[in-house]
Amino acid sequence: MDHFAYRSGTLHAEDVALADIARVVGTPFYCYSTATLTRHYRLFTEALSPLPHLVCFAIKSLSNVAVLKTLGDLGAGMDVVSAGEYLRAKAAGVPGDRIVFSGVGKTREEMRIALEGGIRQFNVESEPEMRALSEVAVSLGKVAPITIRVNPDVDARTHEKIATGKSENKFGIPIARASEVYAEAARLPGLDVVGIDVHIGSQLTELEPFEQAYLKVADLTRRLRAEGHDIRRLDLGGGLGIPYARGNEAPPLPTDYGALIKRTVGDLGCEIEIEPGRLISGNSGVLVSRVIYVKNGEGRDFLILDAAMNDLVRPSMYGAHHDIVAVEEPVVGADQQPYDVVGPVCETGDTFAKARPLPALAEGDLVAFRSAGAYGAVMASEYNTRPLIPEVLVKDDHYAVIRARPTFDEILSRDTIPDWL
Ligand code: LLP
Repeated sequence: MDHFAYRSGTLHAEDVALADIARVVGTPFYCYSTATLTRHYRLFTEALSPLPHLVCFAIKSLSNVAVLKTLGDLGAGMDVVSAGEYLRAKAAGVPGDRIVFSGVGKTREEMRIALEGGIRQFNVESEPEMRALSEVAVSLGKVAPITIRVNPDVDARTHEKIATGKSENKFGIPIARASEVYAEAARLPGLDVVGIDVHIGSQLTELEPFEQAYLKVADLTRRLRAEGHDIRRLDLGGGLGIPYARGNEAPPLPTDYGALIKRTVGDLGCEIEIEPGRLISGNSGVLVSRVIYVKNGEGRDFLILDAAMNDLVRPSMYGAHHDIVAVEEPVVGADQQPYDVVGPVCETGDTFAKARPLPALAEGDLVAFRSAGAYGAVMASEYNTRPLIPEVLVKDDHYAVIRARPTFDEILSRDTIPDWL
């Protein structure tokens, strides 16, 4: 459930009409709903209670500092994968002891920034990284709390570009070698081994792969404890999928996922961390765009929007589906017609949908891409020198621009012409 709905014939985010925002802010823009972010975060905390737990929002899905503050103020932890994301979490007021640092290639500089600023744990992904982290910690006179990310060799049955838990993927250490790697970690002077980390992929629409992975983690916890390690925290990653095509998809709910966690690892006495991104942010955001032209092509009509692949890359990158709706509510029973929905960028890949049934639309009409809160704004670029589009946060009946559209002068001023040219 989310808080985007038609009221008085026009699509609202909570109590604010998207058309009103469009008039003031211009299009295209991203719009997020505070109530939806809050609701989705709470679904997870409720699903995991009464286990001791921390829900660490995966910042990579939506990293605007105002969104992070919204979640951080509710008590959320943060999962970061770069120094930049770490600094965003801190800028949002999230204390270091609620921030976990994931990622397969952390640099020494990133380790230093997090150690100096305070960190709950590093999720270490390889032996060389583990040795580097120990060195950096020792040089700062600190001890780095770590989990080691294990690769459970489980098929997440999701898009190949976002599956991470098979042995051929670059992530984590093979679970079969865990004893050896944990033994070395325990000997390194700058590390304190606190737990195990696993993350098998994103947009999972079944619970079974999670179950397989978590059962393996439960076995490993018992084995590592028998080998003398004080395993007291399990980071179970993110990845729970969301319905992108409303009405046709029903991925498992956070309550089912929570029950699965309790069933598989709940008896180990560990503190549980999870790292959901998409399920919290995805349906909390829409991308609002205006029709520039309707072009009648050979056997098809093109809806040419002012949003493009640089603003929302998921359709062209993963073939991802996003529901597209008219902002002005179509009359009940109105005819639909197929449109190829495209952006203005100069490549054929700049196509959001083909033959998508939509009510008749005309130049100037507004449309909204649903489920665009996750991996939307964060993956945007300025390809074709199109300015990054603004982000707007709604709460009840008010809204604020939480990232402004840059001016062309700002964009151009970042380039410099060398004095020898
Ligand atoms: N934890 C780790 C270590 C991750 O790598 C990810 C996502 C998450 C948590 C959060 O996963 P989520 O709950 O959001 O599924 N750009 C792609 C998704 C890439 C996901 C990368 N890792 C997309 O647009 O579908």
